[in-house]
Amino acid sequence: MSKTVLITGASSGIGEATAKYFLEKGWNVAATMRTPQKAGDWTKAKSIICPYLDVTDPETINSAIRQTLEHFGQIDVLVNNAGYALMGPLEGVTSEQLDHQFQTNVFGLISTIQKVLPVLRNQGGGTIINVASIGGRLAFPLVSSYHATKWAVEGLSESLRYELKPFGIRVKIIEPGGIKTNFINRGIIWANHPAYTRMVNQVRDFNQKLNDSLPEPEGVAKTIYRAANDRSQRLRYSPYGEVFFLLHTILPDNLWRSLVETMMLGKTK
Ligand SMILES: NC(=O)c1ccc[n+]([C@@H]2O[C@H](COP(=O)([O-])OP(=O)(O)OC[C@H]3O[C@@H](n4cnc5c(N)ncnc54)[C@H](OP(=O)(O)O)[C@@H]3O)[C@@H](O)[C@H]2O)c1
Repeated sequence: MSKTVLITGASSGIGEATAKYFLEKGWNVAATMRTPQKAGDWTKAKSIICPYLDVTDPETINSAIRQTLEHFGQIDVLVNNAGYALMGPLEGVTSEQLDHQFQTNVFGLISTIQKVLPVLRNQGGGTIINVASIGGRLAFPLVSSYHATKWAVEGLSESLRYELKPFGIRVKIIEPGGIKTNFINRGIIWANHPAYTRMVNQVRDFNQKLNDSLPEPEGVAKTIYRAANDRSQRLRYSPYGEVFFLLHTILPDNLWRSLVETMMLGKTK
């Protein structure tokens, strides 16, 4: 019998590429999204459904899980992918912006895990794959709010790994480096504050230039598929992020931070 994956945020980018890749590999796919009415022709296959799911709305999570079970009878893998970045100086971030960032990237992910866990436990196992970021263990200028959410996802996932192992449930963290998706052009909400305008412009310019040279999301989809299928207890996978972690490990702290400043803000001190 084919296995089933439920993916959040499958309308574009990494989520869409992951849904397509699992489909290609013969899985049943619940490609959940906030805009099923706009889903492309790739969602017309027999082994895919597109339930409406907004991670900030618990009832839609329940309903998407219910539809997946009715249609496919089980959930073997949950991919918590939905997310976006709130960027800009912390001084300019409103409490509403911060609240929404955490509701989406952290509390929405937690709520989805809590609702899928009884299904996985009753089945005797499964895999939870949380999409964090290289920004879940490293930090860059003007990304404090987003980092706070992704560092939270890292800690939560590492702790859960111990907690769920006795139930045969594996937890995996995906830490992509920069990937060409809607993330930079549409997925970033910018907070601003007049005192930081120059720095904001520098980082925006850096992001724009970077975007053109970034890899497509298919490589991340393949890593997510590997994490779902490798039967290992390996926790972290860093597609396109390894080089950053390597540099961060081998360089002295002050040199690493100078490198980040030079790269993103064009200065060395
Ligand atoms: N691209 C990168 O450089 C990069 C690097 C590291 C980590 N990541 C992470 O990868 C994940 C996917 O991002 P992406 O790069 O593929 O960007 P993307 O193309 O913008 O995709 C983000 C997805 O999340 C969905 N989403 C946002 N808020 C949601 C909500 N409240 N409920 C349900 N879905 C929601 C979006 O749906 P709508 O279409 O409805 O907005 C979209 O499907 C994110 O968690 C991001 O933090 C991205």
